[in-house]
Amino acid sequence: MMRPQYSGTTDAGPQRDAPEAVPVLGVKAVSKRFVSGGMSPSSLDVLSGIDLDLARGEFVSIVGPSGCGKSTLLNLISGLDTDYDGEINLNGDGAAPRIGRVPYMHQRDLLLPWRTVLDNATISLEIRGAGKRRAREEALVHLDEFGLAEFASSYPSEISGGMRQRVALLRATLPGAELLLLDEPFGALDAITRSSMHTWLSQLLADSERAVLLVTHDVEEALLLSDRVHVMSSRPGRIVSTLDVEFPRPRDAGIVTSPQFVELKARLLRVLSDSSGVAA
Ligand SMILES: Nc1ncnc2c1ncn2[C@@H]1O[C@H](COP(=O)(O)OP(=O)(O)OP(=O)(O)O)[C@@H](O)[C@H]1O
Ligand SMILES: [Mg+2]
Repeated sequence: MMRPQYSGTTDAGPQRDAPEAVPVLGVKAVSKRFVSGGMSPSSLDVLSGIDLDLARGEFVSIVGPSGCGKSTLLNLISGLDTDYDGEINLNGDGAAPRIGRVPYMHQRDLLLPWRTVLDNATISLEIRGAGKRRAREEALVHLDEFGLAEFASSYPSEISGGMRQRVALLRATLPGAELLLLDEPFGALDAITRSSMHTWLSQLLADSERAVLLVTHDVEEALLLSDRVHVMSSRPGRIVSTLDVEFPRPRDAGIVTSPQFVELKARLLRVLSDSSGVAA
């Protein structure tokens, strides 16, 4: 695999250089084909030979053209879809149950319309066995940071798309699990809110061993948050390139104007446009 390196590097963190450690997530040679039955059966190869690992505390992003299979991959990793070729291991265990254990913020917010903002935010905690009262107490602490304090008793239909996304993000991050899957979590947010959510997430993860796999279309976001960015080709999605981002985390938002960051961003955009067959 081509693996362009950013040369003006600094410390990449302690976990990156421990090859003997079992990754929190190990994806090996994963391929996925959708087969539809009926009168004229057809099949669609969506993912082809995906390999990726996440060590404890690592933040890894995936970028790639629309329809290349990013959400499909997260569905497989989360255990929502169990029909694939290859191996997906949690802490080295391919048989470990994943469904309900790996917090997953979907591309669509999937809030329950009959539950309030507060009660949507607490679902993942409740699924993991927290009592309703404790789950609510914990969620209430964070509603303010998410700009949702005034909307605790509102229903999803009464709040904006960006707010719904923030509820879904809060719901996914609250359980504090060792692996978190995020599919376009900031897509519906305005630039200022997006930036404050980046800061919030970076701080949340700063002293945490939690590993995060983020799917995004925003290359700046990927570079700002990640230790590593995988670029996928168009369908069937393959990882065609991986960029290491060796600035120490958490990063200040101001880093995006530094010459090294600008250069890395240009490089990522080039790789992405090559992989998508689209002119940059
Ligand atoms: N349940 C399904 N049955 C058949 N085809 C599917 C199914 N789910 C997804 N696909 C197809 O698989 C391909 C990949 O879809 P996926 O949603 O994973 O793409 P994506 O990379 O997440 O795109 P985007 O960036 O637009 O979110 C698409 O061509 C889609 O039509
Ligand atoms: Mg998607």
